[in-house]
Amino acid sequence: MRQLASVLALTTLAAGVAGADYKSDLIEQYEFYRTATGAFAPVYPALAQQIVEDYGVTEGVCIDMGGGCGSLAIALARITGLRVYVLDIDPAAVRLCGVLVDEAGLRGRVIPIEGDAQDMPFRDEFAELVVSRGSVFFWPDQLAGLREAHRVLKPGGVAFIGGGFSRLLDPEIKRKLIADRGGGNQGGGSDRKPIHTGLVGEARKAGLRPIRLIHDPDDRPEFGWWIELRKRPSNAE
Ligand SMILES: C[S@@+](CC[C@H](N)C(=O)[O-])C[C@H]1O[C@@H](n2cnc3c(N)ncnc32)[C@H](O)[C@@H]1O
Repeated sequence: MRQLASVLALTTLAAGVAGADYKSDLIEQYEFYRTATGAFAPVYPALAQQIVEDYGVTEGVCIDMGGGCGSLAIALARITGLRVYVLDIDPAAVRLCGVLVDEAGLRGRVIPIEGDAQDMPFRDEFAELVVSRGSVFFWPDQLAGLREAHRVLKPGGVAFIGGGFSRLLDPEIKRKLIADRGGGNQGGGSDRKPIHTGLVGEARKAGLRPIRLIHDPDDRPEFGWWIELRKRPSNAE
């Protein structure tokens, strides 16, 4: 009996060590994890709260496009009844998201999935809500991403896609994050493409509307831009 207990203890210990290795390997591969769980950690609950206040979507399906290791999705799932799919192109982010979702006790409520925001593996009219923070800057074809957001939305649904922080974030923390931009890994870098000015016009022309651009007035002019894209209810003209 004592032998069996020791074998079980050793097995558990080994599984724990293997689990820790798995997670730390993924952290090494997915650089943005340290920012998301460090300096940016207060951003996600504030942004989730803002999205709930502004759009009132608390049930059904949400998709986070380029959701990384799931920080915004986890924050949204904690304060709503939403089932949140975290789509990301980076396999390490997707696997790490799975670990963090388990740690948060949200398995089945937050679902990581590998894929490209410009061609998502979801059926038409799948989601009540689409969100995306800090990812659109890396999509080679931003209009294709907006088309996808619109395609997967249910009639009456809304997408909120952009970058920056939240108007509900503690002003002191926000001031510091804005001042620190450019230092550390804030998901910037040379391959970062701002939301280009013609994008909203192009989207309107492509029939993606109502759409509007929102700027966080606390942020610098080149940052803090969000696109709000709605899908008209099916009974609308
Ligand atoms: C700066 S990180 C932001 C992650 C997360 N949204 C957050 O705020 O914590 C940008 C993310 O976009 C993802 N990404 C870049 N291009 C993508 C694409 N075409 N489709 C899906 N995800 C993409 C990256 O892998 C990365 O996880």
